[in-house]
Amino acid sequence: MKDKKSLIIYFSRADENYFGGEMKYIDKGNTEIVAEYIKDITGGDLFKVEPLNPYPKDYMECIEEAKVRTANHNAPIKENVPDISDYEVIYVGSPIYWGGMPEELFTALKGLDYKNKIIRPFTTHEGSGLSGVPRQLNEICEGAEITSGIAIVGSQVKDSKEKIEEWI
Ligand SMILES: Cc1cc2nc3c(=O)[nH]c(=O)nc-3n(C[C@H](O)[C@H](O)[C@H](O)COP(=O)(O)O)c2cc1C
Repeated sequence: MKDKKSLIIYFSRADENYFGGEMKYIDKGNTEIVAEYIKDITGGDLFKVEPLNPYPKDYMECIEEAKVRTANHNAPIKENVPDISDYEVIYVGSPIYWGGMPEELFTALKGLDYKNKIIRPFTTHEGSGLSGVPRQLNEICEGAEITSGIAIVGSQVKDSKEKIEEWI
């Protein structure tokens, strides 16, 4: 898949997070690190989905806020996904929030034309793996071919480049 024209759409949050057995403040989220590896490997373009209203920096508050946004299906984003018509492969990167994608990714991905597109899901997580993400993408990305995804646990993200290259 390396040579196909690729777009990497992802959501990722820095600030306080819990992984590797401890709570820490981070400058760059786990999913963003993986997205950048995919860019290095494929030469694809990156698009980060940014919430219009940032999530709380505090981890526990963020957990609660995510629950509310998902329940209300209310998560506006700063900027829409660019025109996808020229891309053959779309990598979709998500942290697992409550067993699925953060609501902002639904906002970003809904309503695009996925005919003839290949979607490749990747997640970072604390135990849930890909969880509900492939099913959710199947529901949203009508007409696309959703390939098998890759899931990286938070503490292994930094060392995952080789594994990601094999997957691609
Ligand atoms: C709101 C919230 C909900 C989460 N829910 C889950 C979950 O259901 N399963 C899981 O394995 N990890 C869960 N996590 C952990 C994140 O998926 C994990 O830390 C991920 O690597 C964060 O990615 P990011 O740094 O790119 O934002 C959750 C984290 C947050 C902040």
